[in-house]
Amino acid sequence: MGDRWYSEAVVYCLDIDTYADSDGDGVGDIRGLIGRLDYLARLGVTCLWLHPIHPSPNRDDGYDATDFYNVDPRFGTLGDFAELLHQAQNRGIRVIIDLVVNHTSDEHPWFQSARSSPDSPYRDWFVWSDTEPDDRHQGMVFPGEQNETWSYDRTAKAWYYHRFYKFQPDLNFANPAVRAEVKKIMSFWLQLGVSGFRMDAVPFIIELTEPGNPNSPKDFEFLTELRQHIQWRRGDAVLLAEANVEPDQLPTFFGDAGGSGNRIHMLFDFMLNGRLMLALARQDPESLIEALRDTPTLPVGGQWATFLRNHDEIDLSRLTTEQRNQVYAEFGPDEDMRIYDRGIRRRLAPMLGNDRRRIELAYALQFSLRGTPVLRYGEEIGMGEDLSLPGREAIRTPMQWSYQPNAGFSTADPEKLVRPVIDKGEFGYQKVNVTAQRGDSKSLLAWFERMIRTLREAPEVGSGSTSHIDVPAPAGVLAHRADGPTGTMVFLHNLGTDDVEVDLSSLEAEADLPNDVLADRGYGELGKLGAVKVSGHGYRWIRLCRGAAC
Ligand code: GLC
Repeated sequence: MGDRWYSEAVVYCLDIDTYADSDGDGVGDIRGLIGRLDYLARLGVTCLWLHPIHPSPNRDDGYDATDFYNVDPRFGTLGDFAELLHQAQNRGIRVIIDLVVNHTSDEHPWFQSARSSPDSPYRDWFVWSDTEPDDRHQGMVFPGEQNETWSYDRTAKAWYYHRFYKFQPDLNFANPAVRAEVKKIMSFWLQLGVSGFRMDAVPFIIELTEPGNPNSPKDFEFLTELRQHIQWRRGDAVLLAEANVEPDQLPTFFGDAGGSGNRIHMLFDFMLNGRLMLALARQDPESLIEALRDTPTLPVGGQWATFLRNHDEIDLSRLTTEQRNQVYAEFGPDEDMRIYDRGIRRRLAPMLGNDRRRIELAYALQFSLRGTPVLRYGEEIGMGEDLSLPGREAIRTPMQWSYQPNAGFSTADPEKLVRPVIDKGEFGYQKVNVTAQRGDSKSLLAWFERMIRTLREAPEVGSGSTSHIDVPAPAGVLAHRADGPTGTMVFLHNLGTDDVEVDLSSLEAEADLPNDVLADRGYGELGKLGAVKVSGHGYRWIRLCRGAAC
């Protein structure tokens, strides 16, 4: 393993409230999660990213906190949380938590105090305007569910800014007291033992909002300050940021112009996500080849986090209208599968018609592309979505553990569940669950275990450099390689339906004794590289050679 743990990590994200309920109240909790750590260890994940754990009125699934120094009592106590950290650490699993400090809940005592009087010590912790700002109806993140970014508060007799929902007032990062408080919050959780933070909405945190100016200035130095702060408090802590911005802006989030990588360690690769969806929809890797070619060079230590699905919609806003329509036609043909005029609210298995070959292909591709893979709970067993639920809740249904009532998630009455379990059709828990797949060496779950373990034997993917191999490959095939001190891996992924052969003879000189370490089927001896077979929707992970560092 290289020096930086996050480069070779496999991150698994989950919501405590929908994962495992230990006390039968219908809501998942920390003790339930502790009981599932052995499952996660067996799967091979090395880091958990927990969605917001703080007390919250839950109007945005916890992304609206009322106390940054505690855990939601529905999940347990701080004591339970410390125990979780200990138990996870015993199994070699790190924990990072969502840090949602762009805004608070409007029920947070800070906002309650701030709105109560202009003299409140917390007044300047939020962003106010005495007059109605001209850009009041601009910059909404949730079109259709949100129609303004400035709302009038009668108690405060002023307008307050909220980039997201109205009940999420933005904190004022121009105020040094707010900056200091955020550092204190981070220190608190680091001291308890978390390995870092998934930082929510980073482009908005650094925005120095000016009423009437929809392009308010950004203070990237704050990211440098946060990095310095956390690294001093805990040397191996990481920041994994959500910054869904134009590609040319991304390098500034990683570090300053000096190229020292002194800000965020890891950024979610939203650009790659959109292009992966496009490539899968078109069964054509062209958009991925472009992505591999166009990616900005990262400073030392900078790392991408790749994903296919997360807890939000698949955001297709950076594709052209034509590209977006292609993805919609393939993966979100019905209006109710789409959301916010830009995305799809579905899980991957149903998007791919529950076609096992395509699901494996998609995940083999994601996990072998540059960066650290992030996997959303339930994807490892091929869970589906519930489109009868509102908005993004469709993809936030409880984990399907077994054939037991409520999928083994909880013993509560079904109407008490935090969200209904999927219990009908081909994605119902009677068909898709952990118990069924655990005992079946051919299951998707068993495949994920194998694939993740294979990836961990190929550290080049996480720590090395990834590039497209420019060989005359048949349409549909992506050939790429990962190079690092430990050697070279070569990957063939056939997005098309035809069986093909790829000429990799140009790599012959570099090859030791090349062999498949993971493939969709047994292809036999690899032999000469001049005609490497790949089935339709098939893939081959080939170890080309081992390096001096092995
Ligand atoms: C991020 C989260 C999303 C949440 C929003 C507001 O985009 O991923 O789930 O609704 O921030 O906090």
